[in-house]
Amino acid sequence: MTEKKAYSKPTIIRHSVGVQNKFGRPPATVPINRLDGFEVSELAEKYGSPLFVLSVKALRDRYRDLKRAFSTRYPNFQIAYSYKTNYLKSVCSILKQEGAWAEVVSGFEYDIARNIEVPGNQIVFNGPYKSHEELTRAFNDGAIVNLDNYDEMQVVEKVASELGKTLEVGIRINMDLNDPPWHKFGFNVEAGHAFEAVKRAEAGGKLKVVGLHIHTGTYVDDVTIYSRAAQGLVNFYSYIQEQLGVKLKYWDLGGGYASHNTLHGAYLPAEQTCPTFDQYAEAICPILMSGPFQAQDAPKLFIEPGRAIIDEPFSLITSVVSQKRLPSGQRGVLLDSGMNIMSSVQWYRYNFQSAQDSGTMLEDTIVYGGLCMNIDVLQASSSIPPVRRGDLLVIPHVGAYNISQSWQFIYLRPAIIAIEDGEVYVIKKAETRDYVQGFEDVPGKFITN
Ligand SMILES: Cc1ncc(COP(=O)(O)O)c(C=O)c1O
Repeated sequence: MTEKKAYSKPTIIRHSVGVQNKFGRPPATVPINRLDGFEVSELAEKYGSPLFVLSVKALRDRYRDLKRAFSTRYPNFQIAYSYKTNYLKSVCSILKQEGAWAEVVSGFEYDIARNIEVPGNQIVFNGPYKSHEELTRAFNDGAIVNLDNYDEMQVVEKVASELGKTLEVGIRINMDLNDPPWHKFGFNVEAGHAFEAVKRAEAGGKLKVVGLHIHTGTYVDDVTIYSRAAQGLVNFYSYIQEQLGVKLKYWDLGGGYASHNTLHGAYLPAEQTCPTFDQYAEAICPILMSGPFQAQDAPKLFIEPGRAIIDEPFSLITSVVSQKRLPSGQRGVLLDSGMNIMSSVQWYRYNFQSAQDSGTMLEDTIVYGGLCMNIDVLQASSSIPPVRRGDLLVIPHVGAYNISQSWQFIYLRPAIIAIEDGEVYVIKKAETRDYVQGFEDVPGKFITN
């Protein structure tokens, strides 16, 4: 007979805003008044506010840590940095220096890579829409091209005929790994579409399948999803090898690795939930190494990280413009940056850290962006100490997507600086009205005297 457990009454503890939280997250009362050795106030004074700041050391460290985690576990490994995440020329150049190849998803991104002299054979060309001209250029350059759909396959067969040679291609595949599954890119494995696509590509006589590509999602902080993707790749490779005699030169696990930003709706902060690069590598590499090949013939393993290496190295310095009391009693603080340069506020619950000593009395605050639009809310509820007009805040980990997805709207976009070894470099000047309107023309008939 099992004994009845003794009753213990539940305890409810009132949550007090501002008291050190149980997650050990740095409270917003700990000011970030220096970035890589420079006073935040001096940077803002010299280069303006808002201001994006890149720590080059942090970028190199992130990249090297990721590379170490995978290359110690897999013999033939290459990072192809996802350009769309942040394609500032300096960022791409620093990562090229570190040994990264380029992963691009459009002719425009392809051009960025070639412009900084990434060799064609170090570019992985993905994306669902690649034009005939772009594909011709890529194959002429020796780039790695992964096919997304049958229409594209047909265009590439035409390119092969025009170039008079068999072209090596990768096939983008997807699997039912997450909920909802990512079916947009490539051909589905479970439905048999991926097998049919490989068979069709080989049967046409113009293409040779040498690669498989899968991108399982973005901000995937459950490493078991990668384990299942890796197992799916191994199974699928074994099958196409056996049935069609395909021998892979590479397989590519795409991007999606999480960064230290907390998602809206997440219970725990990212500091506690974001897997390490070692955890990702451990979830993937041993499974891939069980594939149908000898270790010395292991297909090259590509991964295409974006946010996981570029989020952390960037911070945004921003100023308080005003504050007001809302009818609900909540405090509202309005900043000089808006969602036009911070599109990731849709996904992330950013930290707003004071850049000056503002005391310890945190208050629940709605943080408004500076756009004259009701929807421009950077965070509906954030604990922030007392601030006044002109005070500076620092938002860490803003490197992914915010800059490449930024839109010029109402305000001009700010300058971007990089810091390394005690030097500050302006890597993008603040926009000017001339820059924004430079391509416009006003026909004479629209001008009245
Ligand atoms: C094909 C491909 N690779 C890599 C990435 C980078 O993703 P993330 O920033 O989540 O690492 C993306 C982004 O969606 C992608 O579509």
